[in-house]
Formats: sequence, structure tokens, C-alpha cells
Amino acid sequence: MSNVAVIGAQWGDEGKGKIVDWLSERADAVVRFQGGHNAGHTLVIGNQTYKLSLLPSGVVRGGKLSFIGNGVVLDPWALLAEIAKLGAQGVHIGPDKLFIAENTPLILPPHRELDQMREEAAGASRIGTTGRGIGPAYEDKAGRRAIRLADLADPETLEARLDRFLAHHDALRKGLGAAPIDRAALKAALEEIAPQVLPFAAPVWLRLSELRKQGAKVLFEGAQGALLDVDFGTYPYVTSSNTMAGQAASGSGMGPGAVGYVLGIAKAYTTRVGAGPFPTELFDAIGERLGERGHEFGTVTGRKRRCGWFDAALVRQTIATAGIHGIALTKLDVLDGLDEIRIGVGYEIDGVRHDHLPTAAALQAKAKPIYETLPGWSESTQGARRWADLPAAAIKYVKRLEELIDCPVALLSTSPEREDTILVTDPFAGSDSR
Ligand code: GDP
Ligand code: IMO
Ligand code: MG
Repeated sequence: MSNVAVIGAQWGDEGKGKIVDWLSERADAVVRFQGGHNAGHTLVIGNQTYKLSLLPSGVVRGGKLSFIGNGVVLDPWALLAEIAKLGAQGVHIGPDKLFIAENTPLILPPHRELDQMREEAAGASRIGTTGRGIGPAYEDKAGRRAIRLADLADPETLEARLDRFLAHHDALRKGLGAAPIDRAALKAALEEIAPQVLPFAAPVWLRLSELRKQGAKVLFEGAQGALLDVDFGTYPYVTSSNTMAGQAASGSGMGPGAVGYVLGIAKAYTTRVGAGPFPTELFDAIGERLGERGHEFGTVTGRKRRCGWFDAALVRQTIATAGIHGIALTKLDVLDGLDEIRIGVGYEIDGVRHDHLPTAAALQAKAKPIYETLPGWSESTQGARRWADLPAAAIKYVKRLEELIDCPVALLSTSPEREDTILVTDPFAGSDSR
């Protein structure tokens, strides 16, 4: 019995939250290991909709343990707001169920301000970040000037950390024409929030190590997607963390052997929020239709998501770089009613065929997708819960994707609702039920 890591195989918003919630029934603990509240994961359970950004998607099931690992960047105010919002929906989260790594770096208001100031200053070359301060917080972690959760417990340490933090940020802000940080106000805000977040602080690595010895099943929940990975994504139009399954180990304090099965989540088409290359993007009525049927608006920022055909060349690439064993294919129902469906299988760049997207930005900008066209289906797949209920053309589409990406489809999702999910291979057990 292995642990499972769920990661996005495209540019985020693949439906990770729905799949993690569904899989969490089989797990004892759910662990976030990177990203922060730039993530937006929507869960639909009966007539309730939950929107999660920082909290692991297992929280809505009572009895599961939730962990936020050291690889995450934590905005403590956003955390408390999310806990309060879920509390109002009847989901109560206390320190007996949620554990946050003591060595998690904090996102502070100056990080958010810096993120937004830089985006404004960049004009047309902006990345289109979520404006949550994610990039600046990771910079401070790598720059060894982050204030970490454990630092809130000791006033002397906090003073020293603030000195270091301000020395860097005030110089940067001066260059951007912004006022220096109000040290007293920031310190007071941290002192005020400390007693509310410190009860959740824990040596997460130790708790997970103990759970592992007890044979507990752990589900690692990735945020963003492999194409937003800071190394392998469409740099610089990426997020600032590693979004791959390998990060599950270092972002939680477990060894590399902790992740057994890597489940990549992919939409049956492609979306992207923010700027950056997107070879199979559609600018026509079909793109509009995918956006409308798929309700493609960002959970975090409300921005319209860009839509396009499934890019098998890119997903094949992320399957290799992320070490994906099986795919959960989501939103198949959004393709219902199309006469024909296209799949990107490679690129033409300056008259030369490429089977993967080159790294150089100039080549990426010139990449024209090469398509294969399959017949669509007129029947509805919405809400299908059995493989046998799918129309023949839909099965053909899924099987062709499997061939092109060279990876089996382990789960299929046919609506936002938790139970509208077809299990082909149980990632925790590895048995094929097709
Ligand atoms: P995440 O960031 O990967 O967790 O994905 P988001 O929650 O941001 O975006 C996925 C959206 O699609 C959410 O609104 C889900 O409720 C919805 N969704 C998930 N799976 C399906 C599906 O199979 N069909 C349809 N129509 N919607 C889905
Ligand atoms: P989930 O977990 C989709 C994108 C932003 C921007 C880039 C950098 O819901 O799939 P950042 O604020 O991280 O510095 O922004 O990354 N982005 C996402 N796109 N889904 C997400 O998360 C995203 N998180 C960040 O739009 O292009
Ligand atoms: Mg999302």
C-alpha cells in the first residue's frame, strides 16, 4: 500500500481539489507541500460548495488529519479567514486536526504589496500573478530572511528577524518609490496574530514519520501545475515553487520513498490563467464554449481562464518530468456536443517538427501546434459514474489520449460533484477495474 501524490499536469485548475477530496476517503492524512493561497480548489459535495486555498482538500471530511508542510508559504491572516469561512459552512478545524510545520515561511503584507507593485511596474510584460505575495515570500526563504511560523513564539527572535527583513525590503521599496515598512505596525500585527496561529504549529516531519510507522496512508496535495513549475514550467510565466511530486517529500519532511504513486490531474482540454505561452489556445467560438461550459473563471482572482485543446505533447512532457504513474482526466463532460475534437500532438517551429516544447522563449513563441482530429459525441457524459456509460466516441478519445501521453487514465471525472467520478485504477491499491 503506497502513499499517493496528486499534482496538476497542466497549468493549474485541473480539478485537483475535487480528486483529492474524493481520494481522501481512502487516506488518513492529507498534506499540502508547496504553494500558498494562490491556489483555489473547489469542492462540490451535494448542495454544498467549498472553496479552499490553503487548507488541504481533505478537511471537509471529518476524521482526516490535515498538514501544511514547510514547502508552503503561509499567509496567517488568509489562513484564519479560511478557517472562519469553513466554520460558517459547518466545517470546524482545530489544532487537533490541522498541523502546520513550524519551519513554514510566512507571507507578510509587504510581500503582497511588492508582488502587486512589481506587476504594475511590469506593464505589458507582467506575469499575471495572483498578487498574493507568493514570489516575494519564496525569494525571502531562499534569501534567508524569512520570518517563519516558529519565530512568532519568541519576541527576541522576532525582533532580529524583523531587522533583517526590513533592511532588505526598505531598500527595495525605496527603489520602487514606496514608503518604508511601518515596523511597529507590522510587529504589532504579528504579535496579535501569533496566539491564534501558534496552536497549529507542529513538527510536521515528526508527526508524518510517526504516522508512516503506524502504516497510515498519506495523500499529498499539489497546488498549481507542472507547467507552472519554477524549473520546468514556461519560465518566467510560472509560480515560484516546485510543483512536481518530488517536492512532496522535501516540502513535508519525508524522504523520497514516501511518495509511492503519482497521480497527475489533467483536464480533457487545456486552460491557463495569467500570461505566458499556450500553443493550443483557442480564440474562437469553441474556446468561448469551453470557457462557458467549464465555468472557467479563477477561484482566487475571478479572472477568465484562457481555453484551448488538450496538448498531448505538453502532458507527455510533464508525465516524464513529474514522474506521473496515472492520470485523472477531468471535465470530459465539457467536451459533450462538439462535432470534432482536436488534440495537440507536437509543434511546428520554423518548418521543423518538434515532439516537445523547446525551452527557449523565442522558440516557444513561434510554436504552432500540430493537431490530430477525432470525432466528437452528441450524447451526454455529464454525471457518468461507470466506464460502460460513456459513449463510444468518448472512450475512443480517452484511449487515444492514453496512447499519445503514454500513461494510463486511472480516474475520470464527469462533473464537479464528488461522486461523479469513474475509478479505473485505485492509486492506493493499483488494481484496474475497467
Ligand atoms: P484545482 O485548482 O485543480 O483544484 O481546480 P479548480 O477547483 O480551480 O477548478 C476546477 C473547476 O472545475 C472547479 O470549479 C470544479 O468544481 C470543476 N470540476 C472538477 N471536475 C469537473 C468535471 O469533471 N466536470 C466539470 N464540469 N467540472 C469539474
Ligand atoms: P491551483 O492550485 C492556476 C498562476 C498565476 C500566474 C502564475 C504566477 O488552483 O491550480 P503566483 O501568484 O503563483 O506568483 O502567479 O501562476 N497560478 C495559477 N494558475 N491555478 C493555480 O492554482 C495557480 N496559482 C498560480 O495565474 O500566471
Ligand atoms: Mg484552482
